[in-house]
Amino acid sequence: MHPVGRFYLTTPIYYVNAEPHLGHAYTTIIGDALARWHRLLGDDVKYLTGTDEHGLKIQQAADAAGLDPQAFADSIAPKFADAWDRLDIAYDDFIRTTEPRHANAVAELLQRCYDAGDIELDTYRGKYCVSCEEYYTDDELLEGERCPIHKRPVDTFEEENYFFRLSRFQDRLLDWYAAHPGAIVPEFRANEAIGLIRSGLRDFSASRTSLKWGIPLPWDPDHVAYVWFDALTNYLAAAGFGDGTDAYRTWWPADYHLIGKDIIRHHCVYWPAMLLSAGVEPPKGWAVGGWLLVDGEKMAKSTGNVVKPLDLVDTVGVDGFRYYVLADTPYGSDGDFSYEGLVARYNADLANNLGNLTSRVATVIAKKCGGTGPPPAADSPLAEHAAAAYEATAAAWDVVAPSRALESTWQLIRATNAHLETHEPWKLDPGPEVDRILGDALEALRIVTVLASPALPNTCQSIWQRIGLDGAVTDQRLPAAATWGGYPGDRPVEKGAPLFPRINA
Ligand code: ME8
Ligand code: MG
Repeated sequence: MHPVGRFYLTTPIYYVNAEPHLGHAYTTIIGDALARWHRLLGDDVKYLTGTDEHGLKIQQAADAAGLDPQAFADSIAPKFADAWDRLDIAYDDFIRTTEPRHANAVAELLQRCYDAGDIELDTYRGKYCVSCEEYYTDDELLEGERCPIHKRPVDTFEEENYFFRLSRFQDRLLDWYAAHPGAIVPEFRANEAIGLIRSGLRDFSASRTSLKWGIPLPWDPDHVAYVWFDALTNYLAAAGFGDGTDAYRTWWPADYHLIGKDIIRHHCVYWPAMLLSAGVEPPKGWAVGGWLLVDGEKMAKSTGNVVKPLDLVDTVGVDGFRYYVLADTPYGSDGDFSYEGLVARYNADLANNLGNLTSRVATVIAKKCGGTGPPPAADSPLAEHAAAAYEATAAAWDVVAPSRALESTWQLIRATNAHLETHEPWKLDPGPEVDRILGDALEALRIVTVLASPALPNTCQSIWQRIGLDGAVTDQRLPAAATWGGYPGDRPVEKGAPLFPRINA
């Protein structure tokens, strides 16, 4: 199991060509819950997100808006930060690629690769998708010379550029992955990355001359860095790389880069090769998510099927939305977003299971225990359910499987609801038997509250207070906080308003 220490986790930095959509929220919420889980484990966590602001795609979006690219980026970047604040994303750092600390890191990384002889001047002509900021070969394109991701026609570019000699790295990358099994989760996504490397690597351009909106190459300022070379370096920049010291090693190598499957090539092929060239260790891990599809299509500005996350919060609340994102789709696979699915998941798992358990425990305690929560019994039959739930929840978070983690925690909710239905304390007279059943249920609920808090930070804090516990659930530490017997008893229990009012679709 995971040793306590530092945990450095990153999201992709999102392009500022458009406002945040559900797909961006998806990855960022998963990262937030994982970061919160590691804080519970006692890790010193750095959760990084940010925005990708250079390159042709942003230049074109700025032109269309009639703004210079910096002013345009300045108008969009805060919308990401605001969306994350409203979704209770507890990020530790937000990096923008237009910051000086980032430019320093990019210059340093480029220079190291150049000095290593892995960046050279060359001419390239090829088919380019501006939405991907990527060249494609003819056999990768769809009929009609269209991008396989955006389904839109590509452009033909010819440029004299500096090229990163990726083709030299095939063996080194394969050796590195062979020496680091499990670095990419889930495993079927690892096979995809290894497949890309095995199928042969072509050099990619590390610079552009046709464009000014970027970071100049330190040795040839007529060129700006290719946007992917620039963007990937954010992960090092936020750790302090490029400040002239080795302090970045406090955080580097990162524990996990969370990415979508659309950017495997850049993160799992280009990036470790760039790092190996520069003499920097590759990250420890990558967690690759699938896409949330809307009517079978990837949500994207260019596809015109964008769902805005904050609109959904109005229906199911922040925690309801977070829960849906985390629980509904096994991480790594594609999921299909639908409003009906969102409401069904909310009603089943939150209104019926967790919400019902909380209100029923509080109601019976008010009626039969004078509103005071009894302590649990050491030999409760729920104790082994709690231990199993903790083990399975922890094992799932360990491999970035949030839907499995929540499913494991929900097993304890189900066991506790079943325990209440078996014993029907609402039919019994007040006394030791009722106290015992409710004490056990409260203890199970306390443990659920800790285990579910990475997904439902607000609701779990409310439950924590309603069952009479002090302080913040986020200050709990695992595994101690999941050990049976922690509920002290003799605490006031309040019912409060429904946590998850049922939604009639
Ligand atoms: O690619 N379903 O930025 P981007 C799930 N700037 N996740 C989705 C999604 C969907 N429909 N749509 C987007 C870039 N995502 C680069 C990254 S990193 C050094 C540079 C998520 O704004 C998913 O994580 O296009 C995907 O990889 C990311 O947003 C891409 O965001
Ligand atoms: Mg994209």
